[in-house]
Parts: sequence; C-alpha cells; structure tokens
Amino acid sequence: MIVHKEDGICTITINREDKLNALNRGMIQEIGKAISDAEADSEVRCIIISGAGKKAFIAGADIAEFSKYSVEEAKQLSSDGHRVFNSIESCSKPVIAAINGFALGGGCELAMSCHIRIASDNARFGQPEVKLGLIPGYGGTQRLPALIGKSKAMELLLCGDMISAIEALQWGLVSAVYTQDELLPKANELASKFVAMAPLAMKEIIHCALENSIENGLKEEINAFSRCFNTDDMKEGVDAFLNKRPAVFNGK
Ligand code: COA
Repeated sequence: MIVHKEDGICTITINREDKLNALNRGMIQEIGKAISDAEADSEVRCIIISGAGKKAFIAGADIAEFSKYSVEEAKQLSSDGHRVFNSIESCSKPVIAAINGFALGGGCELAMSCHIRIASDNARFGQPEVKLGLIPGYGGTQRLPALIGKSKAMELLLCGDMISAIEALQWGLVSAVYTQDELLPKANELASKFVAMAPLAMKEIIHCALENSIENGLKEEINAFSRCFNTDDMKEGVDAFLNKRPAVFNGK
C-alpha cells in the first residue's frame, strides 16, 4: 500500500497489481491503520482511495486465502473487514473512492463504504461471491441495496454479474465517470474543494448521513458469510476459481 500526503489530501493506493489488488488479511489491517492515521492527522482534510495500475481498483478479497479458512476464521475475517470498512464509512473526513478498474467483491464493498465514488470508463462493478458459493462478507448485502435499490441489488447479488462504469453511473453507484487519465486529477480537484471547507461542519454532515443504521444487517452478514465456509458449494467454487475451471454446484 502506498500512502501519499500532500496539500491536505491523503491518497491511499492499494498496491498488489499482479493479483489485481486483491485484498488479503494483512492488507485489510493496513487500510484500517492508514484510515485511523489519516483521521488523527490534523493536516489531512480529505482521503482518496485508489488501486495501482490501469486494470483494477480491487478485484475482491484474496480467494486463495479462503481455501484454508474454517467457519470461525471466516467469521473473524468478516468481522475484521466490517470494522475497517465501517471506520471508512464513519471517518470524519470525506473519503473518495477513485475506481480505476475492476471493483469486485470486497473491492466494490470498499468503494461503497467510501462517501463518494467516481470511476474511470474501464471500471467494472459486481459482487461475484455467489459464483464461489459465497456471499459478500464486507457489507455488500447491506450497502448495495442502500445505494442502488433492492431490485437491482438483488439481481447483482444473486447472479454475480458485472456492470460497466456507465451502468454504475445510471444506477447511482458512482457519481461521475472519467477517462483513466482524468480520474486522479478529478479526484484531487474534488478533494481540494473539501480541503477548503469547514472540517467540523463536514464531520457533522458525515455523522448525520450515517443515521440510517445497517448495524443489524451487518451482524447477520458476518454469520451468513461464515456459514458458507461449511458447504461443499463454497469449496467447489473456490477450487474452480483457483484452477481456472467452471464451478458445478450441488446445493450442499
Ligand atoms: N483473489 C485472488 N487472486 C485474484 C483475485 C482474487 N479476488 N482476482 C484476481 N486474482 C489473480 C488471478 O488469480 C491471477 O493470478 P495469476 O496470474 O497468479 O493466475 C491474477 O490475479 C490476474 O487475474 P486473471 O483472472 O488472470 O485476470 P483476467 O483479466 O483474466 O480476469 C477478473 C479478471 C477480475 C475477471 C478475474 O480475475 C476474476 O474473476 N477475479 C475474481 C473476482 C471475484 O470473484 N472477486 C470476489 C472475491 S470474494
């Protein structure tokens, strides 16, 4: 992960390009620390999160790690992710996701925990966990319906399809789409506006916007996500991805 602070803007770049910035356990902890450091740093007025390279923002949680987890470990993974993503959502400084490519699974969930999402025109969004015999474990079952409405969210969650940046714009998942080259300059332009605003007023706005709590749904998601780790379908889905073959599910 690369953290760069300049002119009141803290830019966090998820940096694991060869694996499309897939998030492993350690990276989740690092993001949590970077957010709490930025929150505590009085020089920082706004945070931008982006991914390294031109292909992916974050292509999800690290599927290779999943094959080793027990139900209890999966519960811990999901709880840790919730703690970090909730800390992004409740951060007292505006957090902008500059989505520069695939935002899948945990990548889409991280973007949705940010206050503002802007994307490059090559970005693709989705919650493909169902294809792995899984469900989203970092808040996707709650934040996706909250952002795009239940019908479209259920469609995406139940079939695991990806949508384009333009569809994401039409569905309200992102607020603007730019070319790859424009994306970070535009994110910085927006961040500079926040740098000039009253920090305490911005903090109160973010606090009020969190009022519709999704706390109970998030708790249930942790239990349901970890239950999937006890199924043949999840073992089949993860093995199929790692061995680059289609999965065959039997509902057990
Ligand atoms: N976890 C672990 N590794 C991942 C990953 C993930 N979520 N997403 C991509 N990678 C790895 C691939 O295994 C591959 O590694 P390798 O070069 O060692 O084989 C590398 O990143 C490049 O990905 P690849 O699949 O070859 O790129 P692609 O352009 O053919 O496909 C995607 C891109 C995003 C469509 C595809 O990588 C994908 O479906 N990823 C998983 C998305 C997902 O299910 N996310 C939710 C996880 S819960």
